[in-house]
Amino acid sequence: MDYPIRPITAEEAPAFFESNAIGFGHDPRPAESIASTLKYADLSRSISAWDESQVVGTAGTWTFDMSTPGGSVPCGGLTWVTVLPSHRRRGILTAMMRYQLDQVRDRGEPIAALWASESQIYGRFGYGMAAEGVELMSINRTRTELRHAPSFSGRTRYVDRATALATFPAVWEAVRQQRPGMHNRTPGWWENRSLRDPQWPPPPGFSSLLNVQYEEDGKVLGYLRYRVKEEDSNGWAASTLRINSLLATTDAAYSALWQHAFGVDLIETIEAEWRPVDEPLYHMLADSRRLLHRPQDTLWVRIVDVPRALEARRYAVAGELVVDITDDFCPWAAGRYRLAAGPGGATCVPTTREPDLAMSINELGALYLGGTAAWPLARAGRITGSAEAVARADAMFAWNPKPWAPEVW
Ligand SMILES: CC(C)(COP(=O)(O)OP(=O)(O)OC[C@H]1O[C@@H](n2cnc3c(N)ncnc32)[C@H](O)[C@@H]1OP(=O)(O)O)[C@@H](O)C(=O)NCCC(=O)NCCS
Repeated sequence: MDYPIRPITAEEAPAFFESNAIGFGHDPRPAESIASTLKYADLSRSISAWDESQVVGTAGTWTFDMSTPGGSVPCGGLTWVTVLPSHRRRGILTAMMRYQLDQVRDRGEPIAALWASESQIYGRFGYGMAAEGVELMSINRTRTELRHAPSFSGRTRYVDRATALATFPAVWEAVRQQRPGMHNRTPGWWENRSLRDPQWPPPPGFSSLLNVQYEEDGKVLGYLRYRVKEEDSNGWAASTLRINSLLATTDAAYSALWQHAFGVDLIETIEAEWRPVDEPLYHMLADSRRLLHRPQDTLWVRIVDVPRALEARRYAVAGELVVDITDDFCPWAAGRYRLAAGPGGATCVPTTREPDLAMSINELGALYLGGTAAWPLARAGRITGSAEAVARADAMFAWNPKPWAPEVW
């Protein structure tokens, strides 16, 4: 049976998001929430699958610029993926992925990326696990403290939404320039999503988000957004402070914002959502074992145009590699490529030379942002080539800082 696939109109958005809600297993979104999404979403990139008059499959693509090591690349950011339980395992997701990746290619976007609800879904479509994130599950603030914290000369202060809208975007953008894996945010995204008014409903028991910025001489160098769950235990304060975002453009700003979080009274536990794997905080705590954390795959990358993707980043050391790439889902990306690259940039062209390494497009996506190393992929049988060539790939593709995707989209 055929399920036609096409973008939706604004009038079809309620039915689209109702189907999406069933797929994820939550209540339908209120009209106000859909209206605010429509203010920044590009519906021409929405993807719906239909069974007669019913939406049975949903997806969409954000038009992003994504940071790479030392650069930036146009990226189709996959989102909203669901298929109704009544229609699952009939190939509807596969058809939507065909539609989406063809569109990404036609628009000249060298990569696609996504956050996956389950890690086993997207490998078949050529995605590789490109960045882990870390959930800081709990820092027992009563049992540890910040022992090694760079000093700072500025101040933190609470700001309202209008101030945050004026100052936070430049901080995000400055951090994004340094961090592979971060996407750009449009003014509409900030107004209707990141700092939307009214805020998204808080998790049960938690306050709304508070906005704090760090400034030196009036220049904003970082921000912290957190909420609090007020609790006590036998009369002593045992509240939880949950950090939604903490972004800093300097070490002093980073230190100041963590010190701010540790200085909030009545807090027993600090938590933080989706932090980077190379979080300096681990090395600042007096008793780092009091920080419980859970790593998880976050960003998955799908290379759609190998030469343009590999030329859109820089490499830690100069070197050459000939790589043989297989690609079942997008055969146009398969081939043998010669990468000549270094800290100043790269050229990547098709070649007939003997390959140094062979892998599928999945492994190339995993290596791309410098978050996954070639050595363990080779040990897992997913990359073949000499030990020297694997080591060369690792020396070239590795990058500091590690990729980080701070926001689920
Ligand atoms: C994930 C989901 C979209 C899959 O849709 P679908 O239309 O059933 O997928 P397809 O029929 O195209 O499946 C293609 C292949 O992927 C496999 N597959 C799909 N979803 C899978 C899953 N969750 N786990 C394991 N395998 C899965 C299928 O078994 C099938 O394999 P086959 O080709 O060997 O038979 C759907 O199950 C869903 O809506 N899940 C809940 C919401 C969700 O997790 N969305 C993803 C957000 S990132």
